[in-house]
Amino acid sequence: MKTTDSDKVRGYYASFDEWGRLDSFEGAMEFRRTLDMLAKSLAPGSRILDLGGGPGRYAAELVQMDYRVVLADISPELLQAVRQRFAQLNLEGNIESIDEVNATDLRRYPDASFDAVLALGPFYHLLSKEERKCAASEIHRVLRPGGTSCIAFIPRITGITGLIKRAASTPEQVSPDVLRAVADTGVFQNASDSGFQEGYYPLPGEIAELFQSSGFEVMDEVSLKSIADGLEETVAQLDHPLRVEVDRLVAEMGRQPEVIATSGHVLLVARKTK
Ligand SMILES: C[S@@+](CC[C@H](N)C(=O)[O-])C[C@H]1O[C@@H](n2cnc3c(N)ncnc32)[C@H](O)[C@@H]1O
Repeated sequence: MKTTDSDKVRGYYASFDEWGRLDSFEGAMEFRRTLDMLAKSLAPGSRILDLGGGPGRYAAELVQMDYRVVLADISPELLQAVRQRFAQLNLEGNIESIDEVNATDLRRYPDASFDAVLALGPFYHLLSKEERKCAASEIHRVLRPGGTSCIAFIPRITGITGLIKRAASTPEQVSPDVLRAVADTGVFQNASDSGFQEGYYPLPGEIAELFQSSGFEVMDEVSLKSIADGLEETVAQLDHPLRVEVDRLVAEMGRQPEVIATSGHVLLVARKTK
């Protein structure tokens, strides 16, 4: 079974503007909707592990909302960028620690030491079932009983359609075999050395089942951009009352199974039950 090449993950994020990604129309909608969901899901004052926290965009918001945050990521370059960014924002005293960690091995954190774990990154990447099970079980171990985890992933169909678009702009990255492998197994392995290198796109229900079988109860599963996936710029240009109504539809329809299966990033909210 193919396992994740952590060096490829690190190499990609060393050269990609992950903070700036959330400033595009597409990223801004993802950011806003994710923050809405986090605000609803996280109890005030929680101690949070932001696992795969990348450049610290969510952590910067969360510390300003008085959450206690530990940021962990596999990329040393992104962690260095977080330290600089938090210093620039005068937030360095607000974050508990910034740690280099692989989501499959959280041994530096004691059992039941967090009220919440965010995983808005690792499940885009962990290629093998064993690695995903290991990460889910580590998240379970470090959470207190009743604690919450918010897990982001990209569903299989969105992965395939995204790669078809990528094939048009950078054909060297996506051969027919690469595309077929994603459809059959969910595993993406870039045919070239440039761009996003490896990823995993789960089938509908797969991440929910993984967390249920790891001792969690699923509280919510929602497509973040929902029916507005691909329409982000158009929605941003709508007059205010219409935009408000579209936002409502996005939130309401984002829980329909067909929308979850086909529209952009998905957020699963799960609670540790045992
Ligand atoms: C798409 S970025 C998301 C960053 C941030 N959470 C956000 O949503 O803006 C994915 C992040 O997951 C991190 N990552 C990927 N695999 C990981 C792993 N196995 N353990 C820890 N972090 C990982 C990457 O280094 C990167 O920072």
